[in-house]
Amino acid sequence: PSNHHLHQSSSTPRQTPPRSQTLSTRREVYERDFPLYKQPVEVGCFSLDSQRRFFNDSRQMRYYVEPERSPSFDLRDGYRERYVKRDENVKEKLDHILRWIVANRSKLKSKLTTNASCPLDFDFVTWRGHLTKLLTTPYETREGWLLAVTRFNGTLYISEVETEAACRERENRPERNKEMMYWGYKFEQYMCADSTNSTPDPSGVVNTNEAFCTVVQTRLTDHKLLFSGEVDCRDRDPGAPPPPACYMELKTSAEICTPKQRSNFHRFKLLKWWAQSFLPGVPRVVAGFRDHDGTVVSVETFQISKISQVIKNEYNCWKPTVCMNFCCDFLSFVKREATEDNPSVVYLFSWEPHNDVTYSVHRDSRYSFLPDWYIKEITR
Ligand code: A3P
Ligand code: MG
Ligand code: MG
Repeated sequence: PSNHHLHQSSSTPRQTPPRSQTLSTRREVYERDFPLYKQPVEVGCFSLDSQRRFFNDSRQMRYYVEPERSPSFDLRDGYRERYVKRDENVKEKLDHILRWIVANRSKLKSKLTTNASCPLDFDFVTWRGHLTKLLTTPYETREGWLLAVTRFNGTLYISEVETEAACRERENRPERNKEMMYWGYKFEQYMCADSTNSTPDPSGVVNTNEAFCTVVQTRLTDHKLLFSGEVDCRDRDPGAPPPPACYMELKTSAEICTPKQRSNFHRFKLLKWWAQSFLPGVPRVVAGFRDHDGTVVSVETFQISKISQVIKNEYNCWKPTVCMNFCCDFLSFVKREATEDNPSVVYLFSWEPHNDVTYSVHRDSRYSFLPDWYIKEITR
């Protein structure tokens, strides 16, 4: 009932149009009851170290330290001398998640399906960030996306492909934007400690290879999902609830001085923040508001569960239900169209703003993304 417009009506079989090979992204189509989204459960985690090496543990976890009432963090500090930037030319695709799956296969086995040909009890495996892009699609007017999908042993793997436009933008990034990308990571360094009983060390190096990632399982209507996402830090109180409820997302944003700026913050920033944290069940976002020179002048906590209240008074604003229903219908569309179970076949789903989602099929192409070591391990 929640995705009625995708299904053919049984009462009027001759009037139903042929199944469309495209999917609408128009908001009005997705205005209906909020779909079932089960409370995400953390099934594991992994860490990537300063050299982007994988570890099947929480060694890169960081702990949130409440700042003083009126901080003045200088986000520009260390940009030239103490910044190690991850190489964006290296496309990791789903590799870290696949490594995690291989290392944790025994604890993932479902009680019912213990046979070797059905090793994973999930419909979809992907990154949280790819799902965030899907959630915000009905409201996105600037950047399109490309999502490669492979069906292998009954599970659909979704891995993003950089668009030509995104690649050009990345290669022609203005110096100011490069520096502002650093600011977000520098803020994390001011706010986080490496252990429960230490304090942040702003004199250290900011290395964006380092990451702590949670792996969660959940269900969106009839879609069983396994996805991973980077987590900035956790509540250091030992009495805090278990993950993901103790996790916290850190963000920076320009200081809000005018009603127009407040409205834009609600309409565009809070949409991205909500989508990113709602998916893995991270309940709080801590925002550092900065001036034009990159000094954080205030820090404010947003409860994800209250964001829909915060934006209620905005005219023509985004709606969580539209985001979730679009994502749900996209996953149904993928399930219906990506039917050939073959690790070297890629269904490339493509979307540009103001258009429908379309797809093309590619065999043994540059788009194939499941590595041989994974195929061997799972087929074994
Ligand atoms: P802000 O979030 O303060 O903007 P995340 O918030 O997801 O943990 O990401 C940490 C930082 O990475 C961001 O800080 C931002 O500086 C940078 N970043 C993440 N995604 C980005 C993107 N798509 N474009 C530019 N910078 C990005
Ligand atoms: Mg992060
Ligand atoms: Mg963050």
